[in-house]
Amino acid sequence: MAKSTQSDPFAAERSDTKRKSSQPLFHQHGVEVQRFGEMRLLPIALGHDARLESCQLLNGILADSMILYSLYKKHHWLVRGPTFYQLHLLLDKHAEEQLKLIDLIGERVQTLGGVAVADPRHVAEVTTIPRPPNGVEEVPAMLSRLLQGHEIIIEKVREAIEKTAKVGDDGTNDLLMSDVLRTNGLQTWFIAEHLVDIPLVRV
Ligand SMILES: [Fe+2]
Repeated sequence: MAKSTQSDPFAAERSDTKRKSSQPLFHQHGVEVQRFGEMRLLPIALGHDARLESCQLLNGILADSMILYSLYKKHHWLVRGPTFYQLHLLLDKHAEEQLKLIDLIGERVQTLGGVAVADPRHVAEVTTIPRPPNGVEEVPAMLSRLLQGHEIIIEKVREAIEKTAKVGDDGTNDLLMSDVLRTNGLQTWFIAEHLVDIPLVRV
């Protein structure tokens, strides 16, 4: 080793040029390596058409769940009145639960070889949940808006459960039934109870 360095005085420099630098290369640009809607093939023993259909169904539910999550945070911040504290806490709890679902759904799309909808501007194009006003609504209107979001999601989830059962996508089917459907159903109940017109004290 020492001998070869002596016979080639530039050996050290040559070896240095082969060494990778740890300097980060900023401002890189690249082409899309997988377009939205295109599928990769992963060895999960599930056909292309079944995986594609599941990804399309999941992305619709994912976009709606991201919007519902944002609505929960919006109302967690903007809610007001005598039930402020209780609703402030409940709406944040539901937001956290929706966030967990969002991650499960997004990772299921990737598992199937698809591309999960993620950027909020893309999400806004895909969702079917109506846009709220930018300002503050009355509390019952806020709660009704959340219930509407849940029902839109639940309707899509039921349809997706049926379709994924037909093509044998058990992983998606189980996720939708065990996690997405049950969580949305339970959250619907908790929100709906705040829209019952019952006096706190009887006279
Ligand atoms: Fe908060």
